[in-house]
Amino acid sequence: MKTILDFARARREQRPLVVVTAYDALMARLVASASVDAILVGDSAAMVVHGLPSTVHATVEMLRTHVAAVRRGAPDLFVIADLPFLTARQGRDVATAAAGVLLQAGANAVKIEGLAGHEDIVAHLVGSGVPVMGHLGLTPQSVHQLGGYRMQGRATHEAERLRQEARQLEQLGAFALVLECVPEALAATVTTDLAIPTIGIGAGGGTAGQVLVLTDLLGLDPDFQPRFARRFLKGHELVHEALTHYATAVRDGSFPARAEVVA
Ligand code: KIV
Repeated sequence: MKTILDFARARREQRPLVVVTAYDALMARLVASASVDAILVGDSAAMVVHGLPSTVHATVEMLRTHVAAVRRGAPDLFVIADLPFLTARQGRDVATAAAGVLLQAGANAVKIEGLAGHEDIVAHLVGSGVPVMGHLGLTPQSVHQLGGYRMQGRATHEAERLRQEARQLEQLGAFALVLECVPEALAATVTTDLAIPTIGIGAGGGTAGQVLVLTDLLGLDPDFQPRFARRFLKGHELVHEALTHYATAVRDGSFPARAEVVA
């Protein structure tokens, strides 16, 4: 079982951290077999698994179910769960109860988007024994406030604010920080500023690790492919081909073959 101490060690040894999302037991098992460092049960589950329009629709109960499934599939891997939209803004009790549900379901840590306005919640969770991962830059739960999924931190004042919040998160006890869709130079500067590891997504190559959404890296969605997410598999094409072959084989009578008939 990896722990937050392994994150710190990887950072000290300058070993890149590999994080990927997963939402179910089978995929978690496959991820675990590929020697990644951690699974993120992201609130992207709302979009990727449930077909909802944004991560605003994720709930604690939804993520609890996915965390439990991922834990069953990957008993030994470090698992981080997103705190859903507005959970950290409803005060200490709500945030603490949600973190408790997610950790009891099998998560080792929670990830919280943004910082300004809920610094006390981060401090309280860390002080209560809940490892917290920060998430700055493009914070998808704020898509409506941001006016879309856009690169963040381009303007000097935005970049300075992000650097300050990153330092603050470290001071509050966060063990790692996701930087999403920020300029590569800014992500590299924040990484140098901090002793805790930064995990980038759409933030270039200067972070201490990378995270990708599993379905993006497997190329499973033909209609969604962010520029920063490399397809490591032609997943959509392969799945489509397999299903087409299956349909053909059923229709032409070649499936099931004699060997596939259980007598
Ligand atoms: O929900 C998610 O999958 C995430 C990653 C994109 C970092 O937060």
